[in-house]
Amino acid sequence: MFNILFNGFAKVYMKNEAFMYFGLMWKYCLPSIVTYGTFVDMFCKMGDMKMGNRMFLDMMKVGIVPNLVVFSSLIDGYCKAGSLDVAFEYFERMKECSVRPNEFTYSTLIDGCSKHGMLARADSLFEKMLSASILPNCTVYTSIIDGHFKKGNVDDAIKYINQMFDRDIKLDLTAYTVIISGFHRVGRFDKSMEAAEYVAKNGLLPDRIILTAIMDVHFKAGNIKEALNAYKILLAKGFEADVVTLSALMDGLSKHGYLQEARRYLVKENANEILYTVFIDALCKEGNLDDAEKMIKEMSEAGFVPDKFVYTSWIAELCKQGNLLKAFMVKKRMVQEHVEPDLLTYSSLIGGLAEKGLMIEAKQVFDDMLNKGITPDFVSYDILIRGYHNQGNGAAISGLHDEMRKRGIIVED
Ligand SMILES: *[C@@H]1O[C@H](CO)[C@@H](O)[C@H](O)[C@H]1NC(C)=O
Repeated sequence: MFNILFNGFAKVYMKNEAFMYFGLMWKYCLPSIVTYGTFVDMFCKMGDMKMGNRMFLDMMKVGIVPNLVVFSSLIDGYCKAGSLDVAFEYFERMKECSVRPNEFTYSTLIDGCSKHGMLARADSLFEKMLSASILPNCTVYTSIIDGHFKKGNVDDAIKYINQMFDRDIKLDLTAYTVIISGFHRVGRFDKSMEAAEYVAKNGLLPDRIILTAIMDVHFKAGNIKEALNAYKILLAKGFEADVVTLSALMDGLSKHGYLQEARRYLVKENANEILYTVFIDALCKEGNLDDAEKMIKEMSEAGFVPDKFVYTSWIAELCKQGNLLKAFMVKKRMVQEHVEPDLLTYSSLIGGLAEKGLMIEAKQVFDDMLNKGITPDFVSYDILIRGYHNQGNGAAISGLHDEMRKRGIIVED
């Protein structure tokens, strides 16, 4: 029973409340390995490694032997905090406690080492992992390949890439992006294009994903011209762009301050519903609501009906800028045009209200959403909880926790 409660609290990171119950529990029974595990995990995920460590020492003191969960959480936490040395100390301690590291433990450490340029160490862990008969997956290969590329060890990177192919490991978009950008970074443009074309020829990924990856690589390198060029070449080769690709394109352009230029170029070329939608979204995300509004008007005039996506981007940015009045006006218009607001629309509105401390109104909108038959998720609850938290309204938070539990959003395990 207590453990279930902790898990709930831990998931929403309510340190203080969890502590209160911890104190309460001591009166009745001793905390178990599960309780400690939950606590250690909570602190580590919060990045509070001091407390994570304290919990570890505490459990050793009362004679509870730490398990794989505890060690994994600590190793992961210390890796994320950049304290690789401490992470390795725990790795050693695992052996002393006869706890065998698993795929997660190895992956975490290899990723940490790769990110911190300790490639020799990453290599040796990789060997150990293989000799323990644990099969590395795509993610861990990607970490070590990325690390080697960043260190300029092209040959080592290639060694792991080949190993992946030999082992028939399916590469995902991240892996390809790392490989393509890796070759790109070391000036091997031939290889990076080759990797992209290899992927395309073998149909390993949908064309648009490759297109997105290549553009992304160029944008990250700050080569706007090349990004647009790659886009054009690939379109000419018959690749098809979709919302994801176009969004990436807009995102890249706007990050480099080229959105206006793109607007001229693209809209003239072939204006369609998707382009308008993506553009409006990009303008909203950029905070440029004046232009977004103009474009929405343009879109309507061109005979396209703004959809849920357009309205939601608009509302989200209005809320972010604190213009709630307008946000609600847009929502009204949306409903009038028979476009149903969805979870994201409602969450934006609730967030906007909660941000201003208008919790009564926020709750009203939340209830309105429930009445419309929309099921809230963890994020929407979290928005409300944060709002109540700022006002110190513990009762309201407990009520929400009950609801979350009933809906199974806080998993009882
Ligand atoms: C690979 O394994 C790690 C550690 O267990 C895990 O976090 C990651 O999600 C896995 N990746 C894939 C693609 O399955």
